[in-house]
Amino acid sequence: MHKRSCGELRAVDAGARAELSGWVHRRRDHGGLVFIDVRDHDGITQIVFAPQELQAFAIGESLRSEDVVRVRGAVRRRPAGTENPRLPTGEIELAVDEAELVSRSLTPPFPITGDEDIDESLRLRYRYLDLRRHKMQRNLRIRHRIVKAMRDYFDDHHFLEIETPDLIKSTPEGARDYLVPSRLHPGTFYALPQSPQILKQICMIGGLGRYMQIARCFRDEDPRADRQPEFTQLDVEMSFVDEDEVLEIMEGCMRFVWRRVLEVEPPAFPRLSHAEAMRRFGSDKPDLRFGLELADVLDAFRESEFTLFRRLTEEDGHRIVALRYPGGASLSRREFDALTETAKSFGALGLVHVSFTNDGVRSPIAKFLSAETAQALAHATGAQTGDAVLLVGDASARASDIAGKLRLELGDRLGLRSTADFAFCWIVGFPLFERDPESGAITFAHHPFTSPAPGQERLFDTDPLAMRALHYDMVLNGYELGSGSIRNHRPEVQRKIFQLLGLSQLEIDERFGFFMEALQYGAPPHGGMALGVDRIAMIACGEPNIREVIAFPKNQAFRDMMMDAPSPVPKGQLDELSLRSTTAVQATAAGTT
Ligand code: AMO
Repeated sequence: MHKRSCGELRAVDAGARAELSGWVHRRRDHGGLVFIDVRDHDGITQIVFAPQELQAFAIGESLRSEDVVRVRGAVRRRPAGTENPRLPTGEIELAVDEAELVSRSLTPPFPITGDEDIDESLRLRYRYLDLRRHKMQRNLRIRHRIVKAMRDYFDDHHFLEIETPDLIKSTPEGARDYLVPSRLHPGTFYALPQSPQILKQICMIGGLGRYMQIARCFRDEDPRADRQPEFTQLDVEMSFVDEDEVLEIMEGCMRFVWRRVLEVEPPAFPRLSHAEAMRRFGSDKPDLRFGLELADVLDAFRESEFTLFRRLTEEDGHRIVALRYPGGASLSRREFDALTETAKSFGALGLVHVSFTNDGVRSPIAKFLSAETAQALAHATGAQTGDAVLLVGDASARASDIAGKLRLELGDRLGLRSTADFAFCWIVGFPLFERDPESGAITFAHHPFTSPAPGQERLFDTDPLAMRALHYDMVLNGYELGSGSIRNHRPEVQRKIFQLLGLSQLEIDERFGFFMEALQYGAPPHGGMALGVDRIAMIACGEPNIREVIAFPKNQAFRDMMMDAPSPVPKGQLDELSLRSTTAVQATAAGTT
């Protein structure tokens, strides 16, 4: 007797005997027969119970959704006209003559059979049932193939996969650390890595040359659709390389993955400077699946009677951005009002629109709009009759940001952001430092280990915010896939950066003393990057959030709904760790705090 998977049998197997095991997917009773679609990880096969097979039929009749069954019988062609072309096994069925009920299932809280939308909290609470669904099985298979392709690619390029520890000292990436209390050293803590950044750099100092790791990272930061508190990076580091070499290796990896897993050949990744990306797309992670670029039209309003915009032309540091809305001239006033509300939710004070119609220009500011200005707007944006132009005027950074978000809104409305299209790009030439918007202090733009671009070190003492970094991001469809940089291998430059970030000598010694010491033993020039595996899988699978490509994700409040974590622990466990909680949360079952 041949054990077969539920996705395996074909017409050529007709006449053979086979054994199948799986879950009851669907059941139909018809003409005195019981038809069951039985499902496993590999697919679905129709099995048939006939009343003549007394023992097997009794079991067949008793089967309910998600019961587990093992059956034996003869493979036969389905009668003509009853084949199911949507199933690979759709030409055959198994005529059951032996059956065993292996496990009973309670009635599932949601259907496993379709791909309808199901309340996510139910899906996460019963993740083991959700994982049985076709979509999750497909997504996890794609994810596996992506990671396998990554490993193969780096193996072919002579990289070593090196495991770095999870119980370490803080490695700052701009988030808060998850801490793990030490029982053996009361009052002290390990930090879980925000990334293996320092360790991979130490691998370079350790002469390992080419490192890669599929690494788990932990960051206590605010939830978003493309973030999880723990996530996976493809982490890479190389010695004796410049920026171009890192970009080439990483771009090669993504092309390889896309070719192998999706059978798609992406075009060469365009490179945009950070400043250019902000100017043309209002974002440092531009979605290049569509055009609709931002146009600068400040000059068109220098003499304008529309005082709100003319004033912006009179001071430095402002932008008036025009955005073409193809077909937008047909929008009603109500629809423009709704769009203005959307712009306000992005931080705009208001939104001006100008429609180019067969009957001329229409706009709430029409009476302030000279024919030349209207002409200039059409020229700058490429607007034609039937289009509208949206105008956002504000401080440069804010105007770019709002217009960038409006551009994405237009892309969605016009159906220009298909999940079947893939537009990769590189963003280069980032600043080394930026100002923290809340505290006003100088902070790192990427992380503190990034090297200044050549020739920038002279600005350390005069204008650090003007310094450019050897930092690059890979972007796909408007998502930041990953970041990297050439690092500081010279200890004096690294020390200077720590100082500029406001760390005292004592703090540098306490937090990074081991690393500063290592840098003094012949550190090779090195650089690398990390790509977010969850985000890559999300986009490859055409999913809207990373929870769809993670077997056991946290929910949007970063809770594990199935295991119920985080949860309180018994007092004894806290005592062992020399910890006392200041928040009274009741622990259940095992004890109370
Ligand atoms: P960075 O912090 O930019 O760089 O992270 C690299 C990539 O990791 C992914 N990522 C996340 N994915 C899911 N949930 C999160 N909370 C999350 N945070 C980050 C993103 C991101 O682009 N050590 C540097 C890399 C380097 O310089 O080599 C680093 O970690 O896709």
